[in-house]
Amino acid sequence: MNEVIRTICNHRSIRKFKNVPLTPEQVETIVRAAQMAPSSAYLQPFAVIGVTDESVKKQLAERSRCPALGDCGYLFLFCADLYRIMAAATDEEREKMKANLGFSYMHSTAVLSAALALQNANLAAESMGLGAVIVGGINSALPELDEWLDLPEYVIPLVGLAVGTPDEWPEQKPRLPLSAVFFENKYNRRLKDAVEQFDREVESYYETRSDNKQKANWSGKIIAMLTGDLPLEPYTVSANA
Ligand SMILES: Cc1cc2nc3c(=O)[nH]c(=O)nc-3n(C[C@H](O)[C@H](O)[C@H](O)COP(=O)(O)O)c2cc1C
Repeated sequence: MNEVIRTICNHRSIRKFKNVPLTPEQVETIVRAAQMAPSSAYLQPFAVIGVTDESVKKQLAERSRCPALGDCGYLFLFCADLYRIMAAATDEEREKMKANLGFSYMHSTAVLSAALALQNANLAAESMGLGAVIVGGINSALPELDEWLDLPEYVIPLVGLAVGTPDEWPEQKPRLPLSAVFFENKYNRRLKDAVEQFDREVESYYETRSDNKQKANWSGKIIAMLTGDLPLEPYTVSANA
């Protein structure tokens, strides 16, 4: 196992941080690593916003019910960005471009590229001995978040990445068996046995982990979540504003 794979396989989300801010060099290294991710058609359709405004951090921590956003050493916000690609276009060209930006392909391509950049940043932080957690809960701060960060149209905030010096080292969460994730040539729909076996493993993980023990398993949690009312908007492709 090489160093990169060791770092990847050592991953766990960190939600408790020591009160140590990241240095400007650490912040820059993490963003530069994010930038080196591949992107569809070389669009580089993402933006990273460093949130240092304490009142915004506090709001985000509260709204997303994730104190780590307020307590971390640095908070990055990853956005899909289809605004920058129009910067050098004429008004006429911009109007034509906007017509194409409405297609869901453009949306998913921007989100995918932002996700790759996000994970590059996450891994860079972990490789530097820092800890991190990705927080999708920042969506609870929409639509005000657009205003707080002065986001233009076609810039869509996706997730926060809270990074800092770990003040916890939780047990790793188990992953699905390979047989339920990796298929050759044809998808295998016979998943029940593998998922039930995984549920037993996750049940034992939740019962025995050091913090926040609970009686739960993987399927049970997901079924409860997706059969309830999620606080989500119906899916639309259009950008904000
Ligand atoms: C897109 C995305 C959104 C997430 N949102 C949250 C969140 O809002 N709050 C949180 O505590 N963790 C969040 N997480 C972290 C996951 O809960 C975590 O990765 C998952 O439970 C697996 O645990 P591990 O990262 O420790 O292996 C998010 C992760 C991803 C990839």
